[in-house]
Amino acid sequence: MGLRGSDAVVLAIVLGLCMIPQGEAQLKYGFYRDTCPQAETIVMEEVTKGVHNDPDLAADFVRMHFHDCFVRGCDGSILINSTPGNTAEKDSPINNPSLEGYDIIDNAKTRLEAACKGVVSCADIIAFAARDSIVLSGGFGYAVPAGRRDGRVSRISETFTNLPPPTFNLTQLTQSFASKGLTQQEMVTLSGAHTLGKSHCTSISSRLYNFNSTASTDPSLDATYSAQLKHDCPQGSTDASLVVPIDPPSPTVFDSSYYTNLLVNRGLFESDQALMSSPVTAAQVRLFSYAEFIFKKRFAEAMVKMGHIGVLTGSVGEIRLNCRVVN
Ligand code: HEM
Ligand SMILES: *[C@@H]1O[C@H](CO)[C@@H](O)[C@H](O)[C@H]1NC(C)=O
Ligand SMILES: *[C@@H]1O[C@H](CO)[C@@H](O)[C@H](O)[C@H]1NC(C)=O
Repeated sequence: MGLRGSDAVVLAIVLGLCMIPQGEAQLKYGFYRDTCPQAETIVMEEVTKGVHNDPDLAADFVRMHFHDCFVRGCDGSILINSTPGNTAEKDSPINNPSLEGYDIIDNAKTRLEAACKGVVSCADIIAFAARDSIVLSGGFGYAVPAGRRDGRVSRISETFTNLPPPTFNLTQLTQSFASKGLTQQEMVTLSGAHTLGKSHCTSISSRLYNFNSTASTDPSLDATYSAQLKHDCPQGSTDASLVVPIDPPSPTVFDSSYYTNLLVNRGLFESDQALMSSPVTAAQVRLFSYAEFIFKKRFAEAMVKMGHIGVLTGSVGEIRLNCRVVN
């Protein structure tokens, strides 16, 4: 007995629904259209104000979204304060003191609570702020699917096991991103976020002074650049606030120069330069270095995908009233 036409249509719809990737299905474009139509405008205004006062903050919001999503999913756990019994993600040496901008998220949240009480999650605020920061820096804008809910747990230990360190090689980076459902190509694309911002000298001191038993400085680093870095990051300096730009040619502009640097051995971290260590990833680096349009477009797509990692939706989790404390 064959299928009737109407059965076939129903079957096609059911199969079609099954094929929508799990994470993709849960967030929605225009999630706050009815419940808080001004949500994205409020976030955009506060981020714009913050970045206007301190252009370095754009990099922080992009990194904040990454560090939120890779640890327990994009659930706003990066924003939770430590308590007497628990040291939170934000107090990990990976995030503190380098990650800033929490006060700007608070400003947005305060206005959102006044406008639409208990509706807009802290996790969504971070996702919007990351997108707005990319746009303010010259990257492409993109629609952010929303509806993330906030988690209630934030543990320092999980930052060490989930965030890749700057010493990772290509295999390790690829594995780290694969464990979050991201491809190697997306890893190479998202690393392009290092077109923005700065690094503390502490993050590169081993590469400059303590590389391995035969070479104190990583010999794969361009010699002129390593001399410059050693000048800016003196060995044994006790000044923990010393920083260098990750993409010296244009640290506040979202462009392709991060990839151009890699072509001439000027990636700041071993994890950056590692993208040149296989033919496939090196080809992607070369493409992005001259095709800025393609880089910006792929970056926007990869950010949307990263924003789906481990999200809490529906009635799971909560809408935190203060992003720094669980309800
Ligand atoms: C691929 C693996 C990655 C590694 C190993 C890595 C590592 C690092 C390190 C060590 C720093 C410097 C922190 C400091 O000392 O101040 C940094 C900064 C930064 N990272 Fe990454 N990162 C990676 C991927 C990403 C991704 C996927 C994004 C976002 C999509 C991102 C965005 C940023 C930004 C914007 C900064 C500059 C922060 C600032 O100026 O305050 N990173 N990263
Ligand atoms: C990457 O690092 C891991 C762990 O140290 C090591 O086992 C592996 O051989 C390295 N891979 C490459 C391609 O260097
Ligand atoms: C030190 O690093 C260089 C450059 O990566 C490498 O050629 C050399 O084999 C390494 N030496 C040791 C002992 O690991």
